[in-house]
Amino acid sequence: MHTLRALVWQRFRETLQSSKHIVVIAGAGLSAASGIPTFRGGGGMWRSLDAMSLATPEAFEENPSLVWQFYHYRRTKAAEARPNAAHEVIAKMSAPAYLKKVAPSAASFHLVTQNVDTLSRVIFPDSVFEMHGRIFDVRCTGACGHVYEDRAEPLCAALGAADAEFASYEDAGTKRIDIADKELPRCPKCGALARPGVVWFGERPYHLPEINGIVFKADMCLVVGTSSTVLPASTFAYRVQRHGGKVAVFNLDPGERDERADFVFRGPCEKVLPDIFPELAA
Ligand code: APR
Repeated sequence: MHTLRALVWQRFRETLQSSKHIVVIAGAGLSAASGIPTFRGGGGMWRSLDAMSLATPEAFEENPSLVWQFYHYRRTKAAEARPNAAHEVIAKMSAPAYLKKVAPSAASFHLVTQNVDTLSRVIFPDSVFEMHGRIFDVRCTGACGHVYEDRAEPLCAALGAADAEFASYEDAGTKRIDIADKELPRCPKCGALARPGVVWFGERPYHLPEINGIVFKADMCLVVGTSSTVLPASTFAYRVQRHGGKVAVFNLDPGERDERADFVFRGPCEKVLPDIFPELAA
């Protein structure tokens, strides 16, 4: 192995060994190897539309049919996906017996994920905070505000029929299909139009008081597969650093804040994490 790389790995492992409160901040790159498209960079487009422009309350207000088709696509991807080797390593860290092997001084370990694919929850017990919600949740837009999990695929007949118009999900780009509001998912309680139960731009993330407490206490923050461009998650790592904690970034691509990190591990996290922690790999 390259000597410099081996030294950095060793220094990181030593720092982790003395860490007491560890938090992982995860983003779309964590699930990329599970086949879930990221928002930015390669794969950040859907039907030649910028994925981010669809994840807003305004986009839903303007064109619920289009936004529902985008989320139908993402739900299908999430339903097919299985946790990858990076999820496995992080899941093992959450188990005290394994955590002790790599961080014997640790008193707490938490995962805060921006991902809505539920892949971390599949293998995690309770220590995951899904701050942007869950892709399989559906929320009433009416006064009743009912939120419920619905894993049906398709969620309604019209979304299934729209799929049939395309040879594959990936080439879904060319054709506009307008589904009437009354054929889109409706609230089972009051019949109003329902929306994806995820957090969109401009909306308040879930679990913020708990997450702020975790970030406030953490002395080690692993930032895995996120472009760190979306507030408030983009601030967590540097809040940890501001009170004396360390930051380790795991990302495929360079990021604007990398130079402030204590450790940067460039590469696919599903490869880098098992390489650094062979004792946590499957
Ligand atoms: N391993 C590590 N990093 C990866 C991998 C991989 N296999 N594949 C991609 N990446 C990196 C990309 O280089 C990019 O920096 O993961 C990052 C993904 O960034 P985004 O697509 O911006 O996703 P994320 O940071 O999770 O976005 C935050 O923005 O659109 C909203 O609500 C949405 O939760 C999302 C939030």
